[in-house]
Amino acid sequence: EKGGFASFMDKEIHDQPQAVADTLLGRFDPAGNLQLSEMNIDESLLKSIDKIVVIACGTAAYAGQVARYAIEHWCRIPTEVELAHEFRYRDPVVNEKTLVVAVSQSGETMDTLMAVRHAREQGAKVIAICNTYGSTIPRESDGVLYTHAGPEIAVASTKAFLSQVVACYLLGLYLAQLRGNKFRDEIQVILNELQTIPEKIERILTEIKPRVGEFAREHQDEQSVLFLGRHVGYPVAMEGALKLKELAYIHAEGFAAGELKHGPIALIDSGQMVFIVVPSSRGRDSLHAKVVSNIQEVRARGANTVVIAEEGDTEVEQYASEVFYVPQTFTLLAPLLTTVPLQIFAMDLATAKGLDVDQPRNLAKSVTVE
Ligand code: M6R
Repeated sequence: EKGGFASFMDKEIHDQPQAVADTLLGRFDPAGNLQLSEMNIDESLLKSIDKIVVIACGTAAYAGQVARYAIEHWCRIPTEVELAHEFRYRDPVVNEKTLVVAVSQSGETMDTLMAVRHAREQGAKVIAICNTYGSTIPRESDGVLYTHAGPEIAVASTKAFLSQVVACYLLGLYLAQLRGNKFRDEIQVILNELQTIPEKIERILTEIKPRVGEFAREHQDEQSVLFLGRHVGYPVAMEGALKLKELAYIHAEGFAAGELKHGPIALIDSGQMVFIVVPSSRGRDSLHAKVVSNIQEVRARGANTVVIAEEGDTEVEQYASEVFYVPQTFTLLAPLLTTVPLQIFAMDLATAKGLDVDQPRNLAKSVTVE
């Protein structure tokens, strides 16, 4: 069943190009417009919502964080992301004009389910983004957008995460299309770029994966690893840290790169391993320069800087102990690529330590208690 791979996780990492392609499949009408009627929510209602709240736990919540950047940018609808268990018990302001998006691979996470129930009691419409047909969360939601990642067996989420991110993009682009936002042509350009992502992930798997694996094996005695990212790179950093905790039992933390000087930089001393997820240098904004100066800051204090950057970004090399390049894409879509080396790093490091990457200690695939 592992298809010749050493673990389910390894197989599922290799399934990712297909998971992304399948999640995009069948979502277009003959004219090439997005068609998400399976969501089963009245178009006029979707046009009138004035707030989106994404609720989820763990990795699914990081997919939600990526969604926020994309949906706010494309749709101009205020979007919040909250851990389901925090949302449920803080008396959140949600009503008929709120669209709640519950993201869950299993569809059985009790924390998320309780938040869904609470949101519906307040009158909100709930869409589930889910990987498991007929599971409880989609059944208790108003509509569902299925991710088509196929069964995910390994406890640590990989392909489900990428397909959740894709589903969130589709939802954002669909809302933009529906609400007649100005940039119709841009939607088409983004959809076209999304279609190129599976092949770009494939390139990471063939060209970069062996080097990341070798690097992970060399660093199996690491005691603490930090991950920095900015904008959509921030949830990617959080996800990289979570994977390393779950699989390799190494202390790991993800930070927003801009937060570094507000405290975490005190942690940096000689030899501290720091991953930095660098945004595209081709954008119009100054994000890239800011993150490059963060690399410099930690490097100057002796950090071992491991940089994930896009191909062609040679500027990072002068401050990097190690660089892993991923193919170029649009800034908002980059998590579909930059996450992959971090998954591989965690898996291969854990494997080198002799740990069971499919079934880490203390964890269950779906958390069905609150
Ligand atoms: O099935 P769900 O997507 O609702 O699960 C949510 C989290 O429990 C899950 O993502 C967890 O964080 C994974 N172990 C991450 O690898």
